[in-house]
Amino acid sequence: MEPWVDDLSVGNAAIDADHQKLIVMVNEVEAMIRARCGKALPQALEQLEQHLQIHFVREEKIARAVNFPFGANRMGHEYVLKEFQHMKNELIAREGIWSDGAAEHYSHFLSDWITDHVLNEDMLLKPVLQTYPYGFDPT
Ligand SMILES: [Fe+2]
Repeated sequence: MEPWVDDLSVGNAAIDADHQKLIVMVNEVEAMIRARCGKALPQALEQLEQHLQIHFVREEKIARAVNFPFGANRMGHEYVLKEFQHMKNELIAREGIWSDGAAEHYSHFLSDWITDHVLNEDMLLKPVLQTYPYGFDPT
């Protein structure tokens, strides 16, 4: 997806910083998938998964601290982690060998997900987060 811009801000520094990092990592992984970097990909996927987990925990803590009803978002987090792990295992097992169609499929999964996560799911938090200081971080 496109690099992070101010329009993607959800009104909280910690969440925005996580999203910036996630977008960079997603774009790196996508480039590796398209270039079929079978060697570098497993580590990049592990790092992205770790950052996803860290981000979801942080986001859930912040949502709880501002009393935002986060149930639907939490289910979305669990779902995408499962899907991500499935994709990671598939890609690692294929050792750099996949079709153009599969590369497109995996890339779209990642960029569609990150776009939806930031613009649709987390944007719901913005009106509440904006009533707190931008640096608000209860974690
Ligand atoms: Fe998020």
